[in-house]
Amino acid sequence: MEKFRSVPMVVVTWSMVLMVWLMLGVMGGPVLHKVGGSKGWTEHGVNYTEWSTQENVYVGDWLIFKFDKRYYNVLEVNETSYESCMDRDFIKNVTRGGRDVVQLTEAKTYYFISAGGYCFHGMRLAVHVRDYREPAVPAPAPLSSAAVSAALFPSTVTSLWLLLPHFKLF
Ligand SMILES: *[C@@H]1O[C@H](CO)[C@@H](O)[C@H](O)[C@H]1NC(C)=O
Ligand SMILES: *[C@@H]1O[C@H](CO)[C@@H](O)[C@H](O)[C@H]1NC(C)=O
Ligand SMILES: *[C@@H]1O[C@H](CO)[C@@H](O)[C@H](O)[C@H]1NC(C)=O
Repeated sequence: MEKFRSVPMVVVTWSMVLMVWLMLGVMGGPVLHKVGGSKGWTEHGVNYTEWSTQENVYVGDWLIFKFDKRYYNVLEVNETSYESCMDRDFIKNVTRGGRDVVQLTEAKTYYFISAGGYCFHGMRLAVHVRDYREPAVPAPAPLSSAAVSAALFPSTVTSLWLLLPHFKLF
């Protein structure tokens, strides 16, 4: 009996581990991605294609563009305009003060460019936004008290299962 009274405590512990895992991995809140890392949004030395492929961006996340607003700006455009660096008839002007954020609310590819010649100098960004947060670790199997008991007392459970067919014979 002493052994079995410890089971609820184990269940509580596992529930807490599960909750922490859910909060950190699956339900993790929106992430703010700093475009271009420490260099920010600039024509100097950032490959935004490479930056983008290294980021895991999900619906609800934010981008922050840090730039020198005397030269650069941030315009959301469609794919065609991104490919051709066309800054007319953009979708949205994200530019405000040079530390400007935009939330990515849909699972699609977003395109941003800096107007003028700067897009041709590399200031264009395509961000693939994904629909859900992939768990960082494999999901644990749903916990039942039977599973917990089995993990704690494998020999007991195994012997019960071995005995079961014999009972059925009678
Ligand atoms: C950026 O990196 C990608 C992938 O490595 C490469 O294909 C592309 O040519 C680079 N762009 C520039 C402007 O260097
Ligand atoms: C993209 O935007 C440009 C400029 O507004 C427009 O001419 C073009 O038709 C658009 N392309 C698509 C596929 O929507
Ligand atoms: C974008 O918005 C900023 C700030 O409101 C403004 O100064 C700038 O002229 C706008 N750019 C374009 C291309 O409309």
